[in-house]
Amino acid sequence: MQEISIDGERLNRELTELAGFTQVEPSPLGTAVTRVVFTADDLRARAWLMGLAEEAGFSVRVDAVGNTFIRWEGSEPELAAVATGSHVDAIPHAGMYDGTVGVMGGLEAMRALKAAGFVPRRSIELVLLTSEEPTRFGIGCLGSRLIAGTLAPEKADGLVDLLPGAEAGSTLATVREAAGFRGSLEGVRLAVGHYDGWVELHIEQGPLLEREGLPIGIVTDIAAPAGYRFVIEGVGGHAGALLMPDRKDALCAASEVILSVEKHVLAANRASGTSNTVGTVGTCEVHPGAVNSVPSRVTLQLDIRDTDPVRREGVMQAVRTDVAEIAAARGVTIAETMVNADAPATSSEKIVAAIEVACGGARLPFKKMVSRAYHDSSFMARICPIAMIFIPCRAGVSHRPDEYASPSAIMDGTRILASTLATLASD
Ligand code: GLV
Ligand code: MN
Ligand code: MN
Repeated sequence: MQEISIDGERLNRELTELAGFTQVEPSPLGTAVTRVVFTADDLRARAWLMGLAEEAGFSVRVDAVGNTFIRWEGSEPELAAVATGSHVDAIPHAGMYDGTVGVMGGLEAMRALKAAGFVPRRSIELVLLTSEEPTRFGIGCLGSRLIAGTLAPEKADGLVDLLPGAEAGSTLATVREAAGFRGSLEGVRLAVGHYDGWVELHIEQGPLLEREGLPIGIVTDIAAPAGYRFVIEGVGGHAGALLMPDRKDALCAASEVILSVEKHVLAANRASGTSNTVGTVGTCEVHPGAVNSVPSRVTLQLDIRDTDPVRREGVMQAVRTDVAEIAAARGVTIAETMVNADAPATSSEKIVAAIEVACGGARLPFKKMVSRAYHDSSFMARICPIAMIFIPCRAGVSHRPDEYASPSAIMDGTRILASTLATLASD
């Protein structure tokens, strides 16, 4: 094989083109992207990517939830393939690098290996995973959860469409059907060992690599995320006429719940002497949502994560105690639903070692690190050995329009991905 040469100009042009498939106007902060799963922009992005894959000579398979498998057949196609990939959906007002670097970098890595005359023994697949972001269906990593079999197909199909303005009764089942992804979700699941290995390239979404001047991070562990929903039912009424002593204001109760989460997360960090516990109430839906109406119902979505799931559960228990007190004191009801409570994931020593060798070959220094963001890799870990390659992003900013990774950082990551894939596909 000749030396692997990454076409950085093409890769960055394609990332910019992909950022154009968005529902929002450009932001003064940077390239704002909103690309919610199964919206017109998401479907356009998928069609565009499949076109590029076919142009490069790879075959494409799409499953019932839209996970898209771009395959380069190896010389021994009966062997388990080696896979890479990430997501192209983007939360409202996000940036243009989260997920997309792994997908476009994966495609570029495969093209570069092909151009260098590399002949893979194991097939190499690039996988675009559906709905890594929880925006539309309330749960992240939808496609990879179904691949791993950690989300039951009937439960997945029943997930309610949370898109503002969604039709009543709209669920994953109806939305995917309308988007052209038909058939039973049972067929999405892949057997343990289906892949020989999985490696995902991603921006760090944290400040450490930039701060330490390092081009590459090798992820050894991914923190454990959980999601909960609280529905608070109070009593609404006229904002002028309903007297203060008679109120059961659901939003006032919700405010106390939000502050309770913050209080117990901070207490957990003080107790552990770390910053490993994080908790965020990121949405608050107020009914009826009128300035002159006392809120009668509020729905909160809580995202809570920890490197230690036991500590995460300890925080939830403390929040539950407060929730019971808040409900009693304010005369409201508060119902909690667990959306997901996932385990942490650990990388495979073999794949981490292959990435280290790639860094050595490219003379790129690296550090081993924990990912505090979650990734589809967490779920791919249920069916095969995994690891992740991180590249620095400016000031660690992500999920914002000013998210930024430099073209040279993206090229470095893609080069490391390509040589790691070459090693794994030759094994
Ligand atoms: C992924 O987008 C996450 O929220 O960690
Ligand atoms: Mn994200
Ligand atoms: Mn991501």
